[in-house]
Amino acid sequence: MFRRLFIGVAISTIAFSSNAQNGSLPQSPTWTTPDIDALAHDRHGTLVRHGRVLMTATYAHIGPDASDPAKRYAGNNLACTNCHLHAGTKKFGIPLFGIIDEFPKYSARTGNEISIEDRLNSCMTRSMNGRPLPSDSDEMRALVAYVGFLSTGVLPGQALEGMGTGKMPELARAADPARGEMVYARACTACHNADGSGVQRSRGNPALGYLTPPLWGNDSFNDGAGMARLINFANFVHFNMPHGADYLNPQLTLDDSWDVAAYVLSQARPSKADLDRDFPDLLEKPIDAPYGPYADTFPALQHKYGPFQPIREALMRLRAQSPQRTK
Ligand code: HEC
Ligand code: HEC
Repeated sequence: MFRRLFIGVAISTIAFSSNAQNGSLPQSPTWTTPDIDALAHDRHGTLVRHGRVLMTATYAHIGPDASDPAKRYAGNNLACTNCHLHAGTKKFGIPLFGIIDEFPKYSARTGNEISIEDRLNSCMTRSMNGRPLPSDSDEMRALVAYVGFLSTGVLPGQALEGMGTGKMPELARAADPARGEMVYARACTACHNADGSGVQRSRGNPALGYLTPPLWGNDSFNDGAGMARLINFANFVHFNMPHGADYLNPQLTLDDSWDVAAYVLSQARPSKADLDRDFPDLLEKPIDAPYGPYADTFPALQHKYGPFQPIREALMRLRAQSPQRTK
């Protein structure tokens, strides 16, 4: 399965034409995912290849059951590529291409500028439910080299199309976990299991990772992760699931995508300590952060399941009233 995926990576091209309509951005006809096999087998090439291995077999090298106990940085047996699909090269599969020059970058979550290493460690401590990789570790250097490699040929300031999870229309109602349970049974259970525990590659041997990753429970991302936010999750599912779907061929309706997201995110998952310290400026907190405190007076459940537009509007009013906003 992985072999097939890698071939897909090598030949996939990412065309973007929308810049033609945007005169302010540097123009480039087509950006093609760089070919990792064309890299020399020198120090840099070896580091980038190691970075890709860490993206696709994270559990084996830095997972909680990795053979070297000192390297057990991740707290679950996910792989980065479970979310950053096709090793970070799939449009709207949270790709990691073209981003290296954006860092250091202001982070609303910390209220400071963060480095690419900091950003990556935010996935280590949340999506991977673990501890940060030291900046000078081989693993961090390899992952950063790989993310840098994915920006090959991208001009400074150039925005590639297909970033994030996509942006489908929102519902005017709250997403409904009860209805989502039926969608889950129909469209997800076969791969992710009725109890959300996924399918291990080798039963009882978590260090070999998953054929299909768990969506909740002990070995999943924690409640501070980007995927724990309904808007990210619902869009990711709409544009990527069932496995094989893509943004050109979504398989689930909008209602089904929002509701199944609500069902999965209503289930138990690891919880991160001190989440109340995130987003020191609450006016910058994402409307769908599933944990308080909030700048507005909407109930926590509405932040979790929507509808989001009323919250968005209230926040815009609060921001307009707030003096001396710099960001
Ligand atoms: C459970 C899903 C998941 C896993 C596993 C995961 N990530 Fe992420 N990652 C996300 C999401 C979601 C975002 C975007 C968050 C947002 O928009 O707030 C993100 C963002 C990032 C970014 C910033 C992207 C940008 O455009 O600025 C980097 C870099 C990154 N992840 C690296 C990694 C690495 C390396 C690993 C493995 C060690 C990893 N992630 C594992 C879900 C995941
Ligand atoms: C045909 C099998 C299949 C079906 C059906 C399927 N998935 Fe997945 N899902 C996968 C695989 C495989 C991955 C990991 C992708 C990779 O590593 O390339 C994944 C990854 C995910 C992820 C990101 C990884 C994580 O740990 O959070 C989410 C979220 C997800 N699936 C949700 C769903 C939902 C919700 C449904 C039902 C609407 C669904 N999937 C249906 C196979 C499937």
